[in-house]
Amino acid sequence: MTTKPRDRADDAPPSQAGSRPVSGGGSHAEDVARRLEEMRGELRRHSFLYYVESRPEIDDREYDRIYAELQALEASHPELITADSPTQRVGAEPQSAFANAEHTVPMLSLDSTQDPAEVRRFDERVRKGLEDEPRYILEPKLDGASIELVYEEGLFVRAVTRGNGRVGEVVTENIRTIPSLPLRLREADRPAPELLAVRGEVLMPLSAFEALNERMVARGSEPYVNPRNSASGFLRQLDPRLTAERPLDVLAYDILTVRGAKLASDSEAVRALHQWGFKTPERVTVVETVEEILEYHEAYAADRNDLDYEIDGVVIKVDHLDARADLGATSHHPRWALAYKFEPRKEITRIEKIAVSVGRTGKLTPVALLRPVEVGGVTVSRASLHNREEVARKDIRQGDLVRIHRAGDVIPQVVERVPEKGRKRAAAFRMPERCPACDTPVRENGPFTVCPNRFGCVAQLKRGLTHFGSRAGLDIEGLGEETVTLLVDRGLVKELADLFELTAVHLEPLEGFAETSAANLARAIEEKKTVGLARFLYGLGIPEVGTTVASKLAAEFQSFDNIQDATVEQLEAVDGIGPIMSEQIRAFLDDERNRERIQAVLAHMDALLPPERAGGQGLAGMKFVFTGGLERFSRSDAKRLIEDNGGRVVGSVSGETTYVVVGADPGSKLQKGRDLGVEILSEEDFMSVLQYAGAL
Ligand code: IVH
Repeated sequence: MTTKPRDRADDAPPSQAGSRPVSGGGSHAEDVARRLEEMRGELRRHSFLYYVESRPEIDDREYDRIYAELQALEASHPELITADSPTQRVGAEPQSAFANAEHTVPMLSLDSTQDPAEVRRFDERVRKGLEDEPRYILEPKLDGASIELVYEEGLFVRAVTRGNGRVGEVVTENIRTIPSLPLRLREADRPAPELLAVRGEVLMPLSAFEALNERMVARGSEPYVNPRNSASGFLRQLDPRLTAERPLDVLAYDILTVRGAKLASDSEAVRALHQWGFKTPERVTVVETVEEILEYHEAYAADRNDLDYEIDGVVIKVDHLDARADLGATSHHPRWALAYKFEPRKEITRIEKIAVSVGRTGKLTPVALLRPVEVGGVTVSRASLHNREEVARKDIRQGDLVRIHRAGDVIPQVVERVPEKGRKRAAAFRMPERCPACDTPVRENGPFTVCPNRFGCVAQLKRGLTHFGSRAGLDIEGLGEETVTLLVDRGLVKELADLFELTAVHLEPLEGFAETSAANLARAIEEKKTVGLARFLYGLGIPEVGTTVASKLAAEFQSFDNIQDATVEQLEAVDGIGPIMSEQIRAFLDDERNRERIQAVLAHMDALLPPERAGGQGLAGMKFVFTGGLERFSRSDAKRLIEDNGGRVVGSVSGETTYVVVGADPGSKLQKGRDLGVEILSEEDFMSVLQYAGAL
């Protein structure tokens, strides 16, 4: 079928509408209006059959024919175009920002566990809290982006991201482009209620995710880390036309608010949702015992790899809505529901080679190059081994069989070696004595090994360039690692400033480039001659200057010259910059070669835009506890970010804690948080909270 967005189901007559002439009773305008509605109804029905039910009755050509006819008739009667017309899925203009809106009711999160004993305790608590025996509705836990969808008088009017649970971002125009979403509720089996707010999950099918990443890599862009991230990224895309190009799907599983329909249980609600035209999760079941819950979990876990979207567990919910009301909720999650999560995925594969990569600052990192293996829908072929002590501790050698997982379901890690009887192993791994990129003798610094050839090492130059153009840096579209490698290897770029000398003429002959892509990259570079000061600072790769410090410096000093001239004391006066950091920044800026290189870049820049004063209050009143190591932030960076935005970081979990943020190898605070019903955030969730609060 074509990728043209389709609308779907209502109770229109199945056929003939496509060929009936515009004539009949009332005025001409009424006839046209009636005819338009017939065609829309017909298209909705076929769309429902195709996208929701997967049982199309007509082929693409027939669909396209009716669609074209509708489009033509609407074009000659633009005053009769309605918001729920299948032709209106795409077309909205790009927005400059998303408005915020309060949810009709708070979107609570779920308590979760991986432990069957916890599930039994949940069941006991529910039984204690209710007079009658409970019935549980079981569903897959969809691993996407959660969303509220609002319908008034059957018409789709608003979509709001979960945000902080109370307030989220209005992404109506993006959601409208998702073909499986009803723009008007189907009324064939059940009348539409006056008001309906549905909770659903926006997902990217795994097949589509892989295809998308292949295209990204082919274009020289960084691939997306997982389908959940790309789904939520596309939801927050400001140009709905770009969202429409992404194969997203939306599934509905819960009614947040309904006025004008009576529903006694969740199972009835799910049935109603399906009748109204929503796609609902597969294999929704009602059971009565905890044994059945455990069986359901096991069965779904076994079939997890056969699905075309990610699920990370099953959700157990008390089915009867009165019983839910009796059980109530804590401030974070309902007492009538529990997510019973799957074990994180682990796969076994072989280390084909232990390579050593050289980072932007010269740090040498051993990397396991793996026989590619799929972990949770994503193909993994390399994993960092961090440093030589880590390799020694895990006793990992080239050729070993290892178990890998994705930490926080994102970053691939080697968990352990899988011993093999009778297999001769390679020699123990040793770090090279010379930099693999520039052959300079390396230096040791604690557990780390460093190439000291800061300005002559091509690997450091490549990394530095990639960092400069990265999303948090100048954000130069198309300047991925592969392109940077080409540019450096062909001698086109010898230092940062050379980037700005590139034109389409230089780029076009390069492997993988054609006229358009060369022109695009040249333009992308040209466009970034005007850029935010904070991005520029971050992009320079000054030691210790991550995104937070860069924003702070930019906000405080307002221009690059002011920073270049700042004394150690002035730098240190900036909130969050300590004496060691300010010394390091100063030393970097004082280094003659750095100065020359930066001046050369500045000579090409048109404007570095100072930011508004940083530091909102988006996290006011929130208390965070950390357990385990974060991948993307140091603890102190995370703490600073939170404090800058009005939140607090505390050492121990209590009933007052808003979030427990869980990194790799968490400690007992995680369990404590769970016991107290505190919301648990993965690093990914934490990023979303920060983003939402405007802290990132
Ligand atoms: S029920 C208050 N059912 O998982 C309970 N949630 O933290 C209402 N999720 O963001 C949610 N699949 O949006 C429920 N079948 C399902 C779900 C589900 C995914 C999401 C939910 C939330 C997260 C849990």
